[in-house]
Amino acid sequence: MGLKSGKIRVTSPSNIALIKYWGKRGEQIPAHASLSFTLSHSLTETELSFVEEPSEGPGFRFFFHGRHRPDFEPKIATFFRRVAAHIPFLRDYHFEIHSRNTFPHSSGMASSASGMSALALALVQLERDLGADLDAFAAARRASFLARLGSGSACRSLYKGLVVWGRISAIPGSSDAYAIPYPYGVHPIFRGVQDTILLIQRGQKSLASSLGHELMQGHPHAKPRFEEAEKNLESLIPVLKSGDWEAFGGLVEREALSLHAMMMTATPAYLLMLPNTVAVLHAVWDYRKQTGHPLCFTLDAGANVHLLYPETHRQLILDFIDGELLRYCQGQGYMADRAAY
Ligand code: DP6
Repeated sequence: MGLKSGKIRVTSPSNIALIKYWGKRGEQIPAHASLSFTLSHSLTETELSFVEEPSEGPGFRFFFHGRHRPDFEPKIATFFRRVAAHIPFLRDYHFEIHSRNTFPHSSGMASSASGMSALALALVQLERDLGADLDAFAAARRASFLARLGSGSACRSLYKGLVVWGRISAIPGSSDAYAIPYPYGVHPIFRGVQDTILLIQRGQKSLASSLGHELMQGHPHAKPRFEEAEKNLESLIPVLKSGDWEAFGGLVEREALSLHAMMMTATPAYLLMLPNTVAVLHAVWDYRKQTGHPLCFTLDAGANVHLLYPETHRQLILDFIDGELLRYCQGQGYMADRAAY
């Protein structure tokens, strides 16, 4: 019951890590567990067209916002090669992948999480169209497993809410091979959490994650960092339940600064925060001290700042951003997203 040709359309979100994945071994096995919020508005829409055409390696072409982008193809080729070990019929088809993001590419927002998870979802859909008997739960787990082979953080985008990836004894059922929905209680204060992404420098590139993960190999502080990440995740469990925003902010900010400290102390060293990133972090700390409002930041491997705050404080914090922080931003200024539940 093969299919000669067809088209599959899927959408998948990005996610923002609270406990950062930074360091891996083997075929996309994380050095430690990580935890993220899946986002609502930062999405990749992917259309996967396939035509029967047996070939050696899985053949494909990748288009982004309508343009052929050979520069994106090596990462996807690695993904297809790894996935073909689990889905042999990939070699029976030639694929054309058309993707677009709902967020500006020049924003420096990592798009591999939404991009690779969308591609994995499309391939699982194809497996189902070809007869695989997968219910919704099994399909999400399979897509998470496959997405991980393309990009580690992508495996966390297959579920809404808080998501864990990486085996950790504090979370039964957690795995290095795929992500799972965070299984414990979450206080309402964290449910509609807002993520406003300040665009510090237009077009500023994040550090290529493959290079970043490599920097952890032989890094003198790698072992304590991996242990710290797991300790921070364990400490977050009661905090997420009780709704203690102050403790939440403390842990989340420490994670972000720790990630950057690892890059600063690597060989070669990377200093990805720009002067305006630092200015924003100080302004956030000052604001918190003066007002006591629940607001904290996190950072990925780039200069942009993600501001996290509860929905109840949305207007107050947006006024603060417009009044005090916009001056440190470029281009569109900021993107307003929120955790998807
Ligand atoms: C800083 O998932 O992009 O965003 O597995 O090499 O594709 P690869 O890495 P990637 O790394 C993400 C790193 C991070 C932290 C995080 O999302 O946990």
